[in-house]
Amino acid sequence: MKALLLIGGFGTRLRPLTFSKSKPCIEFINKPILLYQIEALKKVGVVRIILAVGNIPEDFRTTVEEWRNTYNIDIVFSVEETPMGTAGPLALAADLLNEDLPGEKNPDVVFMFNSDILCEFPLQPLLEYHLSHGHEGTLMTTPVEDPSRFGVIVSREDGSIDAFIEKPKEYVGNHINAGLYCLNRSVVNYVPEAVKTSIERETFPHMANLRQLYSFPLDGFWMDVGKPDDFIDGAQTMMEYLDDLGHLHLPISPHALVSGLVDVSESAEVSPGAALGPNVVVGENVIIGPHARLKNCCIMAGSTIGAGAVVDHSIVGWGSTVHQWARVKNSVLGEDVRVHPELDVVGCKVMPHVEVKGDIRDEVVLY
Ligand code: GDD
Ligand code: MG
Repeated sequence: MKALLLIGGFGTRLRPLTFSKSKPCIEFINKPILLYQIEALKKVGVVRIILAVGNIPEDFRTTVEEWRNTYNIDIVFSVEETPMGTAGPLALAADLLNEDLPGEKNPDVVFMFNSDILCEFPLQPLLEYHLSHGHEGTLMTTPVEDPSRFGVIVSREDGSIDAFIEKPKEYVGNHINAGLYCLNRSVVNYVPEAVKTSIERETFPHMANLRQLYSFPLDGFWMDVGKPDDFIDGAQTMMEYLDDLGHLHLPISPHALVSGLVDVSESAEVSPGAALGPNVVVGENVIIGPHARLKNCCIMAGSTIGAGAVVDHSIVGWGSTVHQWARVKNSVLGEDVRVHPELDVVGCKVMPHVEVKGDIRDEVVLY
């Protein structure tokens, strides 16, 4: 089995974080976003993962090299000179998909994911269902309140897809394409040329007409962490899931006060009297000063939160310092930002390497 991950775009909505790190490498609950997908694919038995990208930033290349070694899995880039959309990458990677690898099980099966999606990745049941119906494609579906921003799927009773309507203008249903597919590699034949093609607007509607497309309901949560608010709120959902599995880390002194779910890196130092939670993620080598108050926030590796400082509903980028008694709320700080003592930073995005010397509110701070 192989996989193709669609990694287009520049992660603009996660700026200023994506000025310092590629989106797939940004840590979500202390693990790079893309690694959730890669670990799930490894677990189900995928032996080659193709990353469909427009370019390869240096940090991404290095990180992928590490994953390749750690997970002992063939991870290769398929680079598009011009954007190929969501189906063109299948044609571009046809040779990589068609090659049979030593010891590969189900060589005809290709998992294909939108890279901006996180869930429990129940890939084994998806695979079993896909093999059981014997047709060319299976899409995972999830119900949402506002389906207009997604691809909507109308299925028949036997699970076959009657219609696939991308970004419908009128209500046709609320079961949407979750962006996770299990396909036979023959699907490449529907995209004969490596040109910009939409899998949602062209390939899937065509396959549905041929009755080759089936749907499979996704169990558990489903989220997109591409925007700061979703990133922060999504952390709570993901931590609930990880907590059920006993996978959250809390190696801190009994003097710190913890409420709700938190994940603290082993190498972080949390001072006595600091209060964490709910929904707090503390990265590697972070220092939390005495009586600091953190809730609904993510503190990236190497940052320092001073004594009595407050961080609420915010993301603090790598190596930043929020000095004592400062208050950071509803904000995203880039890498290496310094907030001077006692200041208020509210509703702001602060670019990397900025020194904040006065109170700021509802601003994008460039320097
Ligand atoms: N390699 C590559 N090249 N990837 C691309 C390109 C491209 O030209 N264009 C988009 N992608 C990637 C994006 O990075 C993302 O991972 C995925 O393809 C889907 O593109 P989005 O731009 O995120 O689409 P969307 O969120 O509006 O809609 C898609 O996702 C929904 C679920 O979140 C569709 O697949 C919908 O049907 C679906 O419901
Ligand atoms: Mg998307």
